[in-house]
Parts: sequence; C-alpha cells; structure tokens
Amino acid sequence: MAAVDEVAPDIFRINVVTVPDEDFTTSFFLIRDEAPTLVETGFRRAFDETREALAQVIDPATLRYLVVPHFEGDECGALNLFLEQAPHAVPVASPVGVAVNLGDFAVRDPMAVDASSELDLGTHRLRFMITPYVHTWESMLPYDPTTGTVFCSDVFIGPEGGHPVTDADQSDVMIEMYKTVGIFPSRAHLDSALDKIEAVHPQTLACHHGSVKAARIGTYLQALREHDVTGVTEWNPMLEPPAR
Ligand SMILES: [Fe+2]
Ligand SMILES: [Fe+2]
Repeated sequence: MAAVDEVAPDIFRINVVTVPDEDFTTSFFLIRDEAPTLVETGFRRAFDETREALAQVIDPATLRYLVVPHFEGDECGALNLFLEQAPHAVPVASPVGVAVNLGDFAVRDPMAVDASSELDLGTHRLRFMITPYVHTWESMLPYDPTTGTVFCSDVFIGPEGGHPVTDADQSDVMIEMYKTVGIFPSRAHLDSALDKIEAVHPQTLACHHGSVKAARIGTYLQALREHDVTGVTEWNPMLEPPAR
C-alpha cells in the first residue's frame, strides 16, 4: 500500500515500492490547493494503488494539472488513466516534451511550459526549469517558490529506508547510484541544471526516488558538481539494482 506523507505545507509525498524487497522506491507529489496538482503520476501498473493513496487527501476527479517532468513509465505511465478520471485535468510538460511525447501520447491536449511560465494553483505557484538531458532530452523540473520546494525528479536520487524525509547526508550513496546507472550524458548539461536549481535556493528537494531532502542541499549540489557522474555505463536493471 502506498504511503502518504505531508513533506511541505500542503505538499504530499505518495510513495510506492517499485521493486519488492528492494530499497528503491518511486514517489509522486500532490499539491493540495484550489487547483490540485500531481507532479509525476507513477507507473501505469501502480495506478490503483496511487489513486487510492491520492484519494486519502483529495478527490482525484478534481485534479487540475498533471505535471510530467520527463517521459518515462515512472514519471507518467498512469497519465491517461488519471486524465480519464479527472475531466478538467491538463497534462503539463516542457515544449519539447509536448512536441515529441505528450502531444501524441496524452488523451487530452497538453500544455507546454517554459522558464517564463507560472501556474497559479491558489496558495502555491509552480514555475519551471528547462533542464535538457537531465536526464532526457525534454526534461524540466517544476518548483514551488512559495514553499521553496523543487520537484527534482531523478536528480538527487537516493535510498528510501522507510523515511519520507531525511536530514542525513546521503550524498555518497547518491554518487554511487549515479555511477552505476549512468543517466547523465554530459557534464555541461548537468552543470546547467545544477546552476538553475541552485539559483532558486531550494529548501526542500522533493525526490522522485528516495527520501525527500530537507537539509544539506548544498552538500548534494556540491557532490554532483565534484564527482564524475557522466561516464558511460552499461547498467542492466534486469540483472541488478542500483549500487548503494
Ligand atoms: Fe527518469
Ligand atoms: Fe525515475
């Protein structure tokens, strides 16, 4: 059963165990506001579990925005199932994301957002960083300036350990995981994304994999700048979980 925890004011983390008996999990974030918003939808195969968890906080039919940081199963596999249940929900992605993915995949017309966009959700607002190849071509990261929350998707991944939020320094584990999975293709693209993240002075990193980080954010940024995490790997997820 998915776990639901409030990790910032009216921002809820919904956590699903991705691989049984492994410490690698997937989380999505619900912003409870006048325009209820889901950042990432999770896998299609986990839809029933995710929907049930969401229903503990809001009526899923009232969802207004479904934000897709990039096009992968864990980010948006359940997108169309949510759209079918939420008649006023709009899928949101970067301009490239709309042009190459959601414009074709989504059952309802998507909205493209860029660095000049802002969605007024009521109390919260959402702005967007365009972060190409961190870690796919069309990637973007949403953030909420009203709470200092960056929805950092697959940046700052880590172990779950049963902790929705952590103050611990997990930067060494994070670096080992990136060296194993090899999702960042270039130093230049990663540094560009880190510059954008740092510039908004995040208070909370709402991580898609692993615990939400509420402290030591400078340590995580520095670790990703200092270590070589852009090397070529040939990791096979069918054979082994990420190293940690
Ligand atoms: Fe991803
Ligand atoms: Fe992911």
